[in-house]
Parts: sequence; structure tokens; C-alpha cells
Amino acid sequence: MPCYQWETSLKPSESATWIPLTLQGSEEDLFYVKRAKDEFLYDKEDTAFIDAISSWWTSIHGHCHPQIQAAIEKQIQHLDHVMLAGFLHDPVEKLSESLLSLTNHSFQKVFYSDNGSNAVEIALKLAIQYFKNADQNSQKNGFFIFSSAYHGDSIGAMNVSGLNYFNRIFSSLRFPTKEFQAPNCINCPLQKTPNSCNVECLDPFAEFLPTNSESFAAVIIEPLVFGANGMIFYEPKFLERLQTLCKTHDILLIYDEVFTGMGRLGNGFAYQETQTCPDLLVTAKGLTGGALPLAATLVSHSIYQRFLNKDPYLSFFHAHTMTGNPISCSASLASVGLWKDGGKKRVKQLESNLKEIKSELVSLFPDLVLHARVKGSLFAFDLPMEIGEDEYLNPVGKRFKEKAFQKQVLLRPLGNTIYVCPPYTTSKQSLLQIQEALAFALKSL
Ligand SMILES: Cc1ncc(COP(=O)(O)O)c(C=O)c1O
Repeated sequence: MPCYQWETSLKPSESATWIPLTLQGSEEDLFYVKRAKDEFLYDKEDTAFIDAISSWWTSIHGHCHPQIQAAIEKQIQHLDHVMLAGFLHDPVEKLSESLLSLTNHSFQKVFYSDNGSNAVEIALKLAIQYFKNADQNSQKNGFFIFSSAYHGDSIGAMNVSGLNYFNRIFSSLRFPTKEFQAPNCINCPLQKTPNSCNVECLDPFAEFLPTNSESFAAVIIEPLVFGANGMIFYEPKFLERLQTLCKTHDILLIYDEVFTGMGRLGNGFAYQETQTCPDLLVTAKGLTGGALPLAATLVSHSIYQRFLNKDPYLSFFHAHTMTGNPISCSASLASVGLWKDGGKKRVKQLESNLKEIKSELVSLFPDLVLHARVKGSLFAFDLPMEIGEDEYLNPVGKRFKEKAFQKQVLLRPLGNTIYVCPPYTTSKQSLLQIQEALAFALKSL
């Protein structure tokens, strides 16, 4: 039997564009967006739909924010682009200072790129080279990873994500990793409660480390919430034990805050809710408020010291053409400014509204709204699984999305996990509409 089926009834769409994450030939329900404003996307007929997931988690201040627009318009008048190798300009310099101040200067340098996957690749390469710069024979080439992780779709980023149907086809490209079971504090696989938990889920890692740390450079993890693989929440004490183990065994700690950063969970960065601080921190998504592509890898003082070296062959040989683009940096400066100017308060308010929605739905649909959870601007729950279905491709998510769409709310379930993470500026009225859409979809299941 061949391992594939050639589906002859599928026809290519008329669009010249290859739509990502979509079965080619089945694109008939594409949503054509004419314009966007605040939390709304408008279709061809100018009907408003609520963008309840902030366009893949980017539009944190709402679409087409006037301050971000003004920053872009102003910047394009005098400097559109210059390469960053050998050059510097105001927008990039001001943005670096602004980002470092957001971390209370726990990091020393900001290395730019233009998407989350690339920013992850940069962190991975820096981690390997950190050890090579001290000892060219270093064998620390591997990474510790977690089963629920998603770090992007480029080869390196994919390689440190949990092994699943997203990346299984490319498993021959994998470089050395060791995967551990991810924590899950909403549905603990060890049946622990907050009081009985001593982070036993890290025991296998703790047991593996002493005899294997010479072959591994770093551990990479999304702090407090594994996003794309199911909005799985876990507690700060997991990261606290993880960091202690890493420090003891000379393993670097990389936090991927592509999703959780820029206030998504309530603090500027998620790690600020914990007693930990990574060696490298990756951020993207909300960095420009969704207006332009930009990503950053923040480098701590101790990592940076290893690159202060007189030998030119020990430089970090990595750059992207559009690195530090002045227009993207200006947009980002405006976005970070908006966050610093009352963003935390807005997310706090949103969090309390989402908690009300959660309570309401749990009391109305106790058998359908499972593991309901809220953190910052994120509300998620799981629907009961349909037997025999893979989680992400579970058809229940598709049905749910179609029902919410009928109420003009745009969702993108992760299989049987339903979530909303709207812009921080979403009005009370729109939140009510989201609640009604969720209730309608639940009723129709
Ligand atoms: C935690 C995390 N890391 C990395 C990425 C990849 O970012 P990008 O899609 O910008 O390459 C994503 C994307 O969803 C993400 O959620």
C-alpha cells in the first residue's frame, strides 16, 4: 500500500497565492479582508468581524493603530532601509534601549531578525557558539526540548519543536535533541495538585543531566504557556527548578517569548512572573503591534562576554538582509511605547473580563468547556475529543470555528483547543460578542 492517497477531486483554487497550513484544493472558505481597524477585520461587503486571535497573536493594540501608523509614515520620509552591518540609526538604537529597559537591563544586547523562527535560530546558534568560543572542541551541540513545544517552521526551529505531524516528514533533518515530556498544570499527567507538586515532572531531566550534559548546549522552552501546541499552562516553579538544574550542569536557558512576550500574559515578558531569567530570550509577534515583520533575540551579559574576542573567526557570522529595518523598528518603538503607557493595566482589565466569560461558559456548559483557563489576555479551553482523531486535525475545531464565524467572530482553534487572545484594547461590547459566539458554537456542537 502506498503511504499517500492522490485525491483527484481536489482542484487548485483560482488564487495565485499558496495559502499556508491549508490543504491545497480545499481553499473555498477563504476570508477576503478589505481593511482592518481596532479589533475588527472587514470583508468585501464591509461587514465587521472580530479578530479574536489578534491575527496570529500580533495585533496587540488593535489594527491600524494611529500611533504606529504615524511612526511608520514619519520614518519612511527620511530613511527606508540600510543594512545593519557597519551602520547604525536612531530607530534601531532607540528600540534596543527601550527593549533592554523593559527587562530592567537583564540583557546586554539585542540581535534583530524579521520573524520568530529566525530569532529562534539565532538563539540556537549563539548557544552553540558560546561554548565553541571557549573550547573549539566543545561537544555541546544538542538541545533539550519539550514535547508540547512549537518554535517555528524553519529547519532549526522545527527541530527544537516537539516531534509531531507538523515536522515528522522532515525528521531526517533533525540535529541532536533530547525531548522530555512537557509540564501541564491544567491537566497534570502525574495527577499532582498545586499543593502536592514538587515539579516531579522534571525528575527524568534531572536524572539524565549528570551523565549527558557534555553533549548539550541549551534547553529551549516557551515560558508559562505552550502556545501553538494547545495553549497549555504551567507554573513558574517548573521554570525555577529548570533553571537551577541548568545552572548546575552548565546548560544555557533559552526562553521563546515569541507568543508570550509583549504583555500577552500580563507582564512585559512572561519570565518576569517567575524567579528566573534566561540566558537568551526570543521575541516577535506583538513586537511591532502586528504592523510590520520584526523579531529580536535578547542576549544576556554572560553570553555576550564570550563574543568579545580578538579573533575575527570567532565572530557571530549571522545576518539577514532586512535586519534592523528602520521602518519596522519605528513601528516597534511606537508599539513598545503603547505597552509601556498603560498596556499592563489594559491587559489586567481584559484578564478580569475574560475570567467572567470563562465562569459563565463553564457554568452553562460544564461537560463541554474542559480545563478552562485564563492568563493575561488569553482564554482557552478544551472540547471533548472525538474518538480516533488526531488533536490538531480534530474536526470539532473546524465546526466550532464555522459556528463562531456566523456570529462574526474569527477564531482559529488548535484542534479541540479553543482559545481567544484578542487585542488588549478590545471593547467590552466586542468581548460580549465573543462570549455569545462561543456560547452559540458550544450549543451547536
Ligand atoms: C512560541 C513561538 N515561537 C516561534 C514561532 C515562530 O514565529 P514565526 O511564525 O514568526 O516564524 C511561533 C509562531 O507561532 C511561536 O508561537
